[in-house]
Amino acid sequence: MEMILLEKYKLGIEALDHQHEKWIELYNQLHQLLQEGSHIDDKQIEGIIHEMYAYTSYHFKYEEDYMVSIQFPFFSEHRRLHSSMDSEIYSYYRMALNKDYIALREVLKLLRKWILNHILKDDIKIKDFLQNKET
Ligand SMILES: [Fe+2]
Ligand SMILES: [Fe+2]
Repeated sequence: MEMILLEKYKLGIEALDHQHEKWIELYNQLHQLLQEGSHIDDKQIEGIIHEMYAYTSYHFKYEEDYMVSIQFPFFSEHRRLHSSMDSEIYSYYRMALNKDYIALREVLKLLRKWILNHILKDDIKIKDFLQNKET
């Protein structure tokens, strides 16, 4: 299933929202490439997962630096979630290298859940924290 960034997922922090959108775009591209019955292009899949891995690390680092800058109280907990997802996506990359597309299709469903869940349950706390700080 394709993913879209609904209004409720927006943090109102431009850079982070933009990065989440880019992330979802990469997911959708990958999803498209792995569509059952479509011609599998090894190099393209490998390339997009590599890009996703690199972009994820970039986004996590950016978000973590941002959390530090606002003295976000759940930083360590949040960083732990990032780091386990980081290794998870790296394992997807290994699957792509091994051309294990059946497994890849399976984990992609989990990735979709993870991304949306993480934004809605964890990243959103950054927004809540900033809002509470102002009031
Ligand atoms: Fe996050
Ligand atoms: Fe995020």
